[in-house]
Amino acid sequence: MKKFLPIPAAFGYFTVFVLIYLALGYDWYRNKQAPDQPIAFSHKIHVGRVGLDCRFCHETVDKSTYAGIPSVQKCMSCHANVATDRPEVQKLAGYWERQEAMEWNRVHRIRIRNHVYFSHKSHIRAGIDCADCHGEVRYMDKVRQVSSLEMGWCVSCHQSKNASTDCLTCHM
Ligand code: HEC
Ligand code: HEC
Ligand code: HEC
Ligand code: HEC
Ligand code: HEC
Repeated sequence: MKKFLPIPAAFGYFTVFVLIYLALGYDWYRNKQAPDQPIAFSHKIHVGRVGLDCRFCHETVDKSTYAGIPSVQKCMSCHANVATDRPEVQKLAGYWERQEAMEWNRVHRIRIRNHVYFSHKSHIRAGIDCADCHGEVRYMDKVRQVSSLEMGWCVSCHQSKNASTDCLTCHM
């Protein structure tokens, strides 16, 4: 009787643990970065290929705190006639027929939003580009978060652009 596992077996277990650990880590990372959506909507197609402007869909981005997510009705303004043979577009049409709202999963969220004031409007009006905060969304099939959205990230841009770093600018 051997007292210890033979080395190859021990190595095998170790490898399995490492693989499981990596898989869990990757899954967590992927979910955190790019959640699945009810419809496979692609920015790469709509911005990159069709050539739509961000503001066509995110209508309130320069008028309010939130950028806003387009309604199914907005999508159907094209898809009543466009690409109606694609399965994902038929899924979309199903929502429209049932008059059901699409529950898009949020990608970006400041963790302690109740304690932090952030508004799109003032940043857009200061001439900051979507890509400075969101990366090159027009090349993404699935939107993922590229900036941490943590305090250090906000403050370092404010420092470099001579915007306020007073605590009360962001915390009220
Ligand atoms: C045809 C409409 C459409 C256009 C044009 C469009 N978007 Fe979107 N956008 C959406 C929809 C629908 C979602 C929600 C689904 C998703 O996250 O992919 C979304 C989600 C996002 C999100 C993630 C929101 C979250 O949950 O955090 C960002 C960031 C974003 N868009 C930025 C942009 C930028 C930047 C552009 C221009 C380069 C753009 N969008 C153009 C429809 C559009
Ligand atoms: C201005 C017109 C327009 C609007 C608005 C629009 N789309 Fe599209 N969409 C297109 C066109 C054009 C294509 C086909 C692009 C191609 O294949 O070259 C397309 C393709 C698609 C596809 C199929 C992708 C594939 O190849 O399987 C899906 C799904 C889709 N759109 C979802 C949406 C959703 C969801 C919205 C609303 C948030 C939306 N679209 C808004 C024009 C539009
Ligand atoms: C200064 C950085 C910054 C810029 C510039 C910026 N965003 Fe955002 N965006 C954020 C942050 C931070 C959040 C998360 C806000 C929250 O938790 O409520 C967010 C969230 C979003 C969301 C999801 C929630 C919502 O607001 O409806 C969309 C969509 C979005 N941004 C689109 C855009 C588009 C389109 C542009 C350019 C026209 C843009 N953003 C420019 C930082 C930025
Ligand atoms: C890419 C650079 C950049 C990033 C990142 C950024 N900001 Fe700003 N922010 C600015 C600039 C520039 C101004 C000054 C705008 C002006 O002078 O009107 C500003 C102004 C503000 C203001 C004051 C104007 C208002 O809306 O009342 C607040 C609050 C604010 N930012 C919060 C945030 C928060 C919270 C974050 C992080 C989640 C953030 N900012 C990230 C560049 C940035
Ligand atoms: C430009 C905007 C901005 C300024 C200025 C700012 N904060 Fe924050 N702060 C944030 C954001 C955004 C978060 C939330 C980070 C997250 O959700 O991960 C935060 C989070 C915090 C937290 C919670 C712990 C943490 O780090 O997440 C504390 C405490 C805090 N801030 C204190 C301060 C103090 C004190 C000052 C002044 C010296 C200050 N903040 C200035 C944007 C700012």
